[in-house]
Amino acid sequence: MTAWMDGTRDDPEPSRESDRGKFEVVARDGCARIGKLHTSHGILETPALLPVINPNIRTIEPREMWDRYGIQGLITNSYIIWKHDDLKQHAVEKGVHDLLNYPGVIMTDSGTFQSYVYGDVEVGVEEIVEFQRSIGVDIATMLDVFSRPDMTEEEVKKAVKTTIERCEESLKAAQNVMLNGPIQGGIYRHLRKQSAQNMGRFDFAIHPIGGIVPIMEQHRYKDLAKIMLATIGELPPERPRHMFGCGHPMLFSMLIALGADLFDSAAYAIFARDNRLLSPQGTYRLNDIHSWPELVPCVVNWTPEAVRKLDDEERTVLLSRYNLEVTLAELSRCKQAVHEGTIWQLAEQRSHQHPALREAFLWLTTRPLPSGMPSESLEDLVQDDRTAAREHHPNGGIWEQDWSQVVDRQAIQRKKGERWGGEDTLSRPHILVARKHLQQRWRPESSGSSDVLILNGKPGPWRQRCDLLVLRLKSVLPDLEILVQTPLGLLPYSLEDLNPFAQVDGPTWLWKRRLNMVVLREELQRLHIEADRILILDIGQDKLIQQASNLLIKHGLLKEELIVDDSQLPKLRDELRRRQILDKLIVLANVNYNDAVELIDSCTYVIGGTGRVKNVIDKNGNHILSPRLTDGGISITDLGSKAIHERRSNSDFADDGFSPYVGRGEGPPILVVEQDAVEFVLRGRNVFHGFIVSCDPWLKAGQTCFIVDEQGTLIGHGISQCDADEALGYRKGIAVRTRSDFSKTFK
Ligand code: GUN
Repeated sequence: MTAWMDGTRDDPEPSRESDRGKFEVVARDGCARIGKLHTSHGILETPALLPVINPNIRTIEPREMWDRYGIQGLITNSYIIWKHDDLKQHAVEKGVHDLLNYPGVIMTDSGTFQSYVYGDVEVGVEEIVEFQRSIGVDIATMLDVFSRPDMTEEEVKKAVKTTIERCEESLKAAQNVMLNGPIQGGIYRHLRKQSAQNMGRFDFAIHPIGGIVPIMEQHRYKDLAKIMLATIGELPPERPRHMFGCGHPMLFSMLIALGADLFDSAAYAIFARDNRLLSPQGTYRLNDIHSWPELVPCVVNWTPEAVRKLDDEERTVLLSRYNLEVTLAELSRCKQAVHEGTIWQLAEQRSHQHPALREAFLWLTTRPLPSGMPSESLEDLVQDDRTAAREHHPNGGIWEQDWSQVVDRQAIQRKKGERWGGEDTLSRPHILVARKHLQQRWRPESSGSSDVLILNGKPGPWRQRCDLLVLRLKSVLPDLEILVQTPLGLLPYSLEDLNPFAQVDGPTWLWKRRLNMVVLREELQRLHIEADRILILDIGQDKLIQQASNLLIKHGLLKEELIVDDSQLPKLRDELRRRQILDKLIVLANVNYNDAVELIDSCTYVIGGTGRVKNVIDKNGNHILSPRLTDGGISITDLGSKAIHERRSNSDFADDGFSPYVGRGEGPPILVVEQDAVEFVLRGRNVFHGFIVSCDPWLKAGQTCFIVDEQGTLIGHGISQCDADEALGYRKGIAVRTRSDFSKTFK
């Protein structure tokens, strides 16, 4: 879409016939996605706001929405067009794009909302869909039954059931036009799930979440969060999710973080008519403001005072523009946050703008968590407002599963450090999943109980300050478990450079907090360490080795000052390096402990200028692994992938060929591609959706995976862009960014 100097924009190119109706995810942050919906009136990039156009009252002309604001899609009401003879005639004769004078994607609603407001509509289920098709809409909506939050369970059940019963007839009437299949269910978790599961079985293009307007009008944001959590996980991942009637910018970040792709709203115009200004901080009254809360282009030459003096019509138009520009700006901010991997941080910030939104956010992120995940004790590290939120959480238990789906969608490895945002930081889903992986996968070297030394008091990197101390301690006390206290929890010393733990960007007191022994012991248990004695060493002190000796002597671990034979150092350093690589393979690449030991034990290392391991070389002289210095991760080479895959395949291949889903949940997950894709993958090309036969259920976006052909032969490896359900559901886009080129490595 090109913008010209005269303020116009080219009309959109229709998507390729074979792509129409497909939704492609091009970037993501957990459940939040940046997508492209392919239509015959161009590509609709998501997350997107579809402004509501009332064909009778066009506050801002649709053409201007396209030309000036680059709005790629809008929504209008087919029932209103159907009811007004002049509109109907124009639409039937020349099409809805001509009626609205708009070249982009047009979605139409069906009249359900009118039935909610006015009681009933006269149009038939089949009739309204046929009508939408006849006027050439891009995305039509079936006539669903609106479920209000004040309805009884029986009434809502009936609304869900009737909506489901209307699906077949509606889809038949839509023929090849993309159709919205709205999810109803009021505030009942099980009915939302039932609605999503059943509607998901039909061939809809998009799933709007309906019945939420009165919930938002009443600021019941906690109920809105519950509805999202109950619904999203049940919907087919390859279809966009639309929030019907939601257009307040304050809500965008939280809803996008939970998986919303589309929004529509008349709020920009309705609020303007009422002299109210939208903003991500909440709503303002024009009468109360001295200065614009957001200085957007349409008001740079206006003061609020001057706008107050305008006549009603002019003021409504200007405030509508203001509201639209502010709304688009927040959407753009959300998109950038998804690209950066900070959408939950944005939601966290926005949650402070309205007490009901804060309540919803705390409700989402403070629920009692499944075992193996941080419990209240972690939060005891910081005195916070979450304990109260948890105490007032009557339904905690039943939501665990829904919340863990959000957590499990997070990619862990992030290039940048973690910015501290107060106690909310500990509940960011990607932090929860990083802790979960560490706790589930990492194992201490010695089984049984051991003494523990915790290094506390300074931010990373810890190696320059502590490596020598750790090596010397290990030479005299080989069974001593040494860990670092980070603001995100305990980290085994062997993983001291691992993000997000190693790079927290926050005030220095974060590393100097008083540690609570009960909390520490619990945290150690989650890391499978049964601690005898727990000693805490303040590494902020001078003369660290002497201070450590004093501490160990005082607690009876040493008899005399730490005097060591430094001729042992190279051997000890090698041992520490071995442990570092081993732990990364286990925690990050999910390699089975015994396989990792077997692989690493006979390796040698190429050391870089800073003394850190650059390459890991196996006994045959093959470069198999490289630790990444930027984020503490590990990169697997082509030869390394072969070596790891061979070990895994021994246990997971049945005699009659490879069958994913029989694995033990260990090893980099395997993805099987169709024969047509094999020669491309062998040459290092990415794996595309539509060519995937099957995959391991633990495939996760952002993690290393192995690519095999249908016989189970390894043909490449790369970083998955999708989770297992998405790998099999998505029909367009990149599934795996291939990092190998077997055609060169194995010539
Ligand atoms: N607009 C706002 N809410 C709804 C809804 O639940 N269904 C339909 N079809 N349109 C809506």
